[in-house]
Amino acid sequence: MPGLFDELKIRDLIIPNRIWLSPMCQYSAIDGLPNTWHTVHLGKYAMGKVGLIMTEASGISPSARSTLHDTGIWNDEQVDAWRTIVDFVHLQGVKIGIQLWHAGQKSSTTTPWQGQDYVDANSGGWQAVAPSEIAFGKLPKPRSLTEEEIHSIIDQYRQAATRSLKAGFNVVEIHGAHGYLIHSFLSPITNHRKDQYGGSFENRTRFVTEVVKAIREVWPINRPLFLRTSSHDWIEGGWSTLENSELAKKLLPLGVDLIDCSSGGIKSDISYPVAPGYQVKFSEDIKNSSQMLTCAVGVITDPLFAEEIVRSNKADAVMLGREFLRNPNWVLTTAEVLGVDLEWLNQYKQGKPRKTLPY
Ligand SMILES: Cc1cc2nc3c(=O)[nH]c(=O)nc-3n(C[C@H](O)[C@H](O)[C@H](O)COP(=O)(O)O)c2cc1C
Repeated sequence: MPGLFDELKIRDLIIPNRIWLSPMCQYSAIDGLPNTWHTVHLGKYAMGKVGLIMTEASGISPSARSTLHDTGIWNDEQVDAWRTIVDFVHLQGVKIGIQLWHAGQKSSTTTPWQGQDYVDANSGGWQAVAPSEIAFGKLPKPRSLTEEEIHSIIDQYRQAATRSLKAGFNVVEIHGAHGYLIHSFLSPITNHRKDQYGGSFENRTRFVTEVVKAIREVWPINRPLFLRTSSHDWIEGGWSTLENSELAKKLLPLGVDLIDCSSGGIKSDISYPVAPGYQVKFSEDIKNSSQMLTCAVGVITDPLFAEEIVRSNKADAVMLGREFLRNPNWVLTTAEVLGVDLEWLNQYKQGKPRKTLPY
């Protein structure tokens, strides 16, 4: 079985290793434009030899954002700004994907460090939308989407994928997790619709299926498409691992190459059994029941544990979030631990630990 430092080929893309940056919102953009913060933030992971960098969740329209400070990809100015970052990452031999999202019930809030309170229209906010009018925690009730509006959001995903291609991204990842719009269609907890987008498994998965088809119309056949799902709602009557595996089987022939296995987020008052590798079993479930590729995420911090996840075929890759905030050079230090002779960037070569000299 391959290990962390083996390449992974998906369609025509060769990803140099299997340690990837998990998408992480930075709440540092204005008008959806990535700026110097995003260049330095993402650039440092390219310098640290992460195999695949996934951008933060980026809005497919202004009202798809969770906050006024999320990045976006709904106009050409944003394409140009992303292109600078994409080019820099590529120059370091690293690949980069963009995570596309619509925040749905959780949109129009302040940032986490401001309390994630609702932002009303007087302060630049907007009306949140969702499959059904069910409030998330302290936020006001969202407005239920009409079928016409659903179709126009699907078209926004298509346009965002076209722009992602123009910006040079190697991968598109659809954000289908954490209680945002796609997940809230999947879960019976938040989807009480009586039309063709609610009720049965077939109906609840219709929206994501149509998003996948729309993106695949414009996203080239030789480029990978990922989907992040919440594999489990951790609540009775919610989206289950069984349904998640069925969704993977349904989407594989439609052009989804990899499920990024996260969990949770559908309601505000659920407690999660967070522990090292607590979501790895969701990745295993999908691998055991389909040909779908997966990546595992969630409290993966130990190099030997990460290597074991990939070597034992529980996932094809691992994504790290908070550990990379603590140590952007985790890939370099992990190579040392595993005894892998990783090529460092020319500019940093003199910093590489030597076997024969103390310094
Ligand atoms: C600051 C921060 C921002 C995040 N933003 C996103 C995001 O934009 N999209 C997403 O799918 N998950 C997001 N997440 C979740 C992470 O991608 C990851 O799944 C989670 O932190 C668990 O992995 P970890 O234990 O390695 O941090 C975010 C997490 C953090 C800490």
